[in-house]
Amino acid sequence: MFGVMFACALGTAALAADPVVCAPGTEMPVMNPAIFDTASPPAQQIESMAWLVMGICAGIFVVVEGILVYSIVKFRRRKAQQGDPVQLYGSNPIELAWTVVPLLIVFTLGLVTIRVIRDVERTEPPEGAMEVVAIGHQWWWEYRYVDPSLPGGQVVIANELHVPVNKPVWLRLESADVIHSWWVPALSGKIDLVPNHTNHLWFVAEKQGLYLGQCAEYCGNQHAGMLLRVVATPQEQFDAWLAAQAAPAVDDQSVAMGKSIFMELACSTCHSVQGVSDGAFAPDLTHLMSRQTIASGVVPLTRDNLRAWLDDPQSLKPQCNMPSLKLSDNELDAVTDYLCTLK
Ligand code: CUA
Repeated sequence: MFGVMFACALGTAALAADPVVCAPGTEMPVMNPAIFDTASPPAQQIESMAWLVMGICAGIFVVVEGILVYSIVKFRRRKAQQGDPVQLYGSNPIELAWTVVPLLIVFTLGLVTIRVIRDVERTEPPEGAMEVVAIGHQWWWEYRYVDPSLPGGQVVIANELHVPVNKPVWLRLESADVIHSWWVPALSGKIDLVPNHTNHLWFVAEKQGLYLGQCAEYCGNQHAGMLLRVVATPQEQFDAWLAAQAAPAVDDQSVAMGKSIFMELACSTCHSVQGVSDGAFAPDLTHLMSRQTIASGVVPLTRDNLRAWLDDPQSLKPQCNMPSLKLSDNELDAVTDYLCTLK
């Protein structure tokens, strides 16, 4: 488990190094993927339990190794000694001690574990929770905010989940293809996203900031390139963000050429831009420019990276499902300019 945690921390280190600029003038603290730096009740319970288990294991280690070292020194073979040492059998106090003490330890750990599992794996949403549907895809995340008061009844976004700070969130986990696992260690334990089966997970982001995570179930070649980002902001800021996401795509006549290339080529059959195209296999691009990264957290979203991605996605994220459309330099610029207007 620690190996995985370490690998995850390394995987996101490049992006986590600097405070991330979310909106102009707003710097966000970054919560790294570490189970010992938590900011949500389920994650805190898992952290406390990890410390308890490690504390007990450390105690056992010290006692067992201590007795071992003592015995090696005290009962080592002496020069004058002949034959086997005296053999002892059937000491009732010793046998009782090494039966009863481990039983008590296992019993205690069992009870604590059952309690933590009951709290962490709820079957009902916490009171006042906001429900969001999370769908795992090879190799990116789709989120749906279902709310009848929104235009169209829902807002669909990709890869960067936004939540209000200090509000319970109830994630409904589904998969479009294979088994993935949603794991933002500072927020909650990991839960699998299983095809044709719905799982749930809950958390409360108690600090403002960007929480990093990682798909935690091997799901194919770009499993490591399926990074998780959760942005927790005050309620008013979240409401403004959600309203902006619910708005139709910007229609800028100055990039009509890029838009028509987007429509004529395969882009529009996979990607959805509200009011323009309705592809459902790839991330929704209606408000692409409101995100900080592309390719599910693999590279920062800049014009250069976007253009390089359109030119050859396979060089930034090998074996991802987006093909290179072999656009000319002019076409690349036109489509990049069009996408850059999708704020
Ligand atoms: Cu998705 Cu690993």
